[in-house]
This record gives sequence, structure tokens and C-alpha cells, in this order.
Amino acid sequence: MPSAAMPATTQFELRLASRMLRLGTETAFEVLNRARALEKQGKDIVHLEIGEPDFDTPANVIDAGVNALRKGWTHYGPAAGLPDLRQTIAEYVSRTRKVPVAAEEVVVVPGGKPIIFFTILALVDEGDEVIYPNPGFPIYESMINYVGGHAIPIPLREERDFSVDVKELASLITERTRLIILNSPHNPTGGVLTKRDILDIADAIGDRNIMVLSDEIYSRLIFEGEDFSIMSVPGFKDRTILLDGFSKTYAMTGWRMGYGVMRPDLATHVTRLMTNSNSCTASFTQIAGVEALRGDQSSVDKMNAEFKHRRDVFVAGLNKIKGFSCRMPKGAFYAFPNITKTGWSSKKLADALLEQAGVACLSGTAFGEYGEGYLRFSVANSLENLNKALARIDEWTRKNL
Ligand SMILES: Cc1ncc(COP(=O)(O)O)c(C=O)c1O
Repeated sequence: MPSAAMPATTQFELRLASRMLRLGTETAFEVLNRARALEKQGKDIVHLEIGEPDFDTPANVIDAGVNALRKGWTHYGPAAGLPDLRQTIAEYVSRTRKVPVAAEEVVVVPGGKPIIFFTILALVDEGDEVIYPNPGFPIYESMINYVGGHAIPIPLREERDFSVDVKELASLITERTRLIILNSPHNPTGGVLTKRDILDIADAIGDRNIMVLSDEIYSRLIFEGEDFSIMSVPGFKDRTILLDGFSKTYAMTGWRMGYGVMRPDLATHVTRLMTNSNSCTASFTQIAGVEALRGDQSSVDKMNAEFKHRRDVFVAGLNKIKGFSCRMPKGAFYAFPNITKTGWSSKKLADALLEQAGVACLSGTAFGEYGEGYLRFSVANSLENLNKALARIDEWTRKNL
């Protein structure tokens, strides 16, 4: 319904720039809105659609943010981030990725997402090819299309435990490949690339002048396997943009803070994009970021142990449901069951589970065409709710399959 202040029609046609037709979206937020609308009608919904920790930000981090506000960290700061946070991140990345990183190679931005946006804006020209994981985080494909690049999917297949088929990747690289996007641990499948996988990918790229955007936002959420970054492979530091942030690790999705680590000459250009878009990341948020990385890490360990336990319970439960089969995700906080045996398409099944069973999840196709045959559930919800969701899906499948 149009509001009183907004006329239903206008004589002025909305003339959008044509690139807007190429911009995609993140379905999770749309499903969340539909689920909220059903709740308004009195329906009870279990929310397993959004990928965010259900925990509060650790108390020491909140205190640091609140104190920073009181101390006057309420002004503009440098576009690339506060020096203290950039230095803290440089030390953290040097330690965890075993590659020396300097503060000038770090750009702090409002969330991990802007690093995807800025990297693609800064590096991809019209007609350039970008290889990206499919299924994968939908913003990659959206942004490649937006800038007029050619989005070249590398399918991640269940039989390979959702890791990259390096031979297939090698066959997709051409003269026009400008950027390759990797994401491990992976959203939506929970797949984790092994050190061997990454070394083989590096071999396939060889000494070509191709940049790699390595999305490591779930780097602290690995349950099986190891955290190994292509940035640490000899010869790859200059060709890697490492994306990480605070949203998932420290349950800080609403604070909006993430970062990219990249060669200083590229960092200068990404900083120019920050100047043109956000000016800077909120200053008090960055002070809290220093505390998150330097302070007590026990909340991270506690959250991770809880996610692992929930993953085990939820995946075991899914595997008992008719038509569902689910591999054990090795990282992140998602389950990505195969639902082909239900005979339903992913989108139809996700819609039916939301509307008829009161369980909000995402269709695998929200992550690209190779997501058909799968659903994505976030296990970042209480065990009680996860069990409730399992019972509801089980009951629904008994009635409808
Ligand atoms: C793979 C991946 N990259 C980046 C992001 C963006 O994270 P942020 O909320 O920090 O922008 C997400 C969030 O869901 C993600 O799953």
C-alpha cells in the first residue's frame, strides 16, 4: 500500500542506470523479511536463514566500544582505518597466516562485504573474466556482473566434499582471467580447502598476473582441517587480497567492520574507494576491534565449541529425514543437505518449509545455479530451535513426500 505521503503514480518515469539491472542480491535478507511478515500474522518461525551468530558480542569488546564513545571516538578517522587497528590486524594476520604483513597493507572497511565490492570495482574492467565459486556467496556474482565482467563459475561438487576441482579450475583460466575468488571455509557448503588444494590452485595459476580474492571471513570457524591461506604461498602475497573481519568470529555483524590485506599500491586505491563511499569505518567500532583481536579469546572458543556441537546434532538429525542427506561441514556454521531425493526443487521446498512448516532456510539456488538440489540452514541458533526445526521438517516430509 502506498503511504499517504507517497503518490501512487508519478508522471516521471524512473530512469535507472542500466548497470542496476545487473546487480543481484542476497536472498537471506528477503527470506528474513518474508519470515517476519508471517510472524506478524501470528505464525511461529524458526530462523535458520541468516548467517549470523546468535551470541552477543563478547562483553570486553562491548565495554571497549562504549568506553571509546565516552572518550570521544565519535569523529572521522583516516579512510584506511585507525593506525592502531591496522597495526593490530597486521600482527594478527602475520601470526595466523604465517606471512609478514605491514599496517600499510591493511584497509579497514565497514564489514567484509565492502572488500568484495571494492576489489572488484578496482580490478575488473568490462569484459574481464572472474572465476568464482558456485554455489557461493551471492555477492561475488552480483558484483562481477555489475561492473560488466564475465562471471565464470567454478562448480563446487558434493562428491569432492565441495572443494575446488583444480583441473577444472585450470581449464577455466584464459588470457582474460583477471581475478579468481576463493572462499574457505565456504558459505554455503561448509567446505574447507586443504593446504594441498591451495598449493595445487597456486600451481594452476602459476606465474600469471591474476589476482586472487581469498575470502577468509570464517577462518576461525574450522572444525576439521587447517587454516591455510594462499597469501602465504611463495609468490602469491602480491597477488592476494585477503578478506577477513569481525562479524562472524566475534559476533559483531551489526558493528560493521572488516578488512582487506593487500599490496600497498592496491591498498591506496581501495582507500580512495573508501574516501568516495564511506569516508571511514566508525571510529569507536575500530577501538572495539583492537580489543577483539588483542583481548581475551575465550568467548570465540566457547562459541566455536557450541557451533560444532550444534552442527553435529543438526546434521545427524537431517540425515534421519526422508529425502535428505547431508555431509558433515568442516567449517563455518551452515549445513547444506542434498534434497534431490525429495523430488522437489530447492526453491519450492524452501518456500514450502517456510510457509507450511515454519522453518526459514535458503534454497541452494540463492547461491548460484550449482546450488540446485540443496538447501542451506544456518546452525547459528539454539539447540532447542534446531531440534524444533528438525521435528517440523520431519513431520512435513512425512505428510508431503
Ligand atoms: C563468504 C562471506 N563473505 C563475506 C561476508 C560478509 O560479511 P560482513 O557481514 O562482515 O560484511 C559473508 C557474510 O555472510 C560471507 O558469508
